[in-house]
Amino acid sequence: MAAAAAAADKSPEELLCAAASAGNKDDISELISSGADPTYFDASGMTPLMHAATGGHAAATRLLLDAGAPWNALSPSGLSAGDLTSDPPTYDLLLDHALRSELILGTVARRQANSSDGVPAESYLDSRVSFSEDRVMDADSKAVMMEWERPLMEAHARAVCSGGGGKVLNVGFGMGLVDQAIQRYEPEEHTIIEAHPEVYARMLKLGWGEKKNVRILFGRWQDVLPQLGSYDGIFFDTYGEYYEDMREFHDHLPKLLKPDGVYSYFNGLCGDNAFFHVVYCQLVALELASLGYSTQFIPLPVKDCLSEQVWEGVRQKYWQLDTYHLPVCQAESEPE
Ligand SMILES: C[S@@+](CC[C@H](N)C(=O)[O-])C[C@H]1O[C@@H](n2cnc3c(N)ncnc32)[C@H](O)[C@@H]1O
Repeated sequence: MAAAAAAADKSPEELLCAAASAGNKDDISELISSGADPTYFDASGMTPLMHAATGGHAAATRLLLDAGAPWNALSPSGLSAGDLTSDPPTYDLLLDHALRSELILGTVARRQANSSDGVPAESYLDSRVSFSEDRVMDADSKAVMMEWERPLMEAHARAVCSGGGGKVLNVGFGMGLVDQAIQRYEPEEHTIIEAHPEVYARMLKLGWGEKKNVRILFGRWQDVLPQLGSYDGIFFDTYGEYYEDMREFHDHLPKLLKPDGVYSYFNGLCGDNAFFHVVYCQLVALELASLGYSTQFIPLPVKDCLSEQVWEGVRQKYWQLDTYHLPVCQAESEPE
């Protein structure tokens, strides 16, 4: 047996990586049964699963996933098995596995939450923010909001005002980009929730408190919920919160969104990894579907909005992908 013959000078895990690279199912099964660790990283920082995915070996990928190989391990260049494969069946298998794991365990959610190194989410609202022409920064040099997102915010406004304006709710003012765009649709009522005292003070300074159709609710969305009505369009884009907070907001949608209304959110989830991002898009869509909403993702190219200069002085590049997927969620129509 090939694995046994070579075992003299290689560890079982090194042999597992070699078998995964070659897509050798028999060797993979035998090595795993005899205790080879599928979570191993070889000298180049690759796992057996990454090797199988790179080679486009779907059956080997399946075996490794079943044996507990982590789908979300990252190579030294920040790529996961799903990023490394160009084989559609292998990709689908990894995506399906990732979604199942996330639905059960929510590990990406925890990864996302833990990646907010520096200012913990709970303390963002108590810390200072600074404003300049093209950004709002937190006390930890991370960007709360940036000017490069303006075209995205305009597209979000178009989506949530597509019913003609009506009553629109925006959660999170930031630089007011989406709110400026929403105003252009002359909504009958435009409610803005903002929780940070300095952002709120700036809104007032900029005259948002005097606009006829604007109602500002100062506080966390969680705390001002009882003051909300129902809306034709809702946009959600907070900062320093966890994925679980957005999920909690979604639980309120059936009350907040009118039956024909449109909901959208800033889709920055895992914006630094293409595969994780796809997992997240699908995860949110599944969770919204369980609440009765269908989600379409409109692809918007963002490569041209972003240059290295944009990120100068920013501690974390929160977006690194070429395409933004703008979510448009609506209540699923009743079956005839
Ligand atoms: C990314 S910015 C929003 C950017 C905005 N969409 C724009 O177009 O400029 C997020 C905003 O949400 C606010 N925020 C954070 N947590 C919040 C909460 N729980 N409730 C309401 N606003 C919150 C932040 O202070 C910040 O102003």
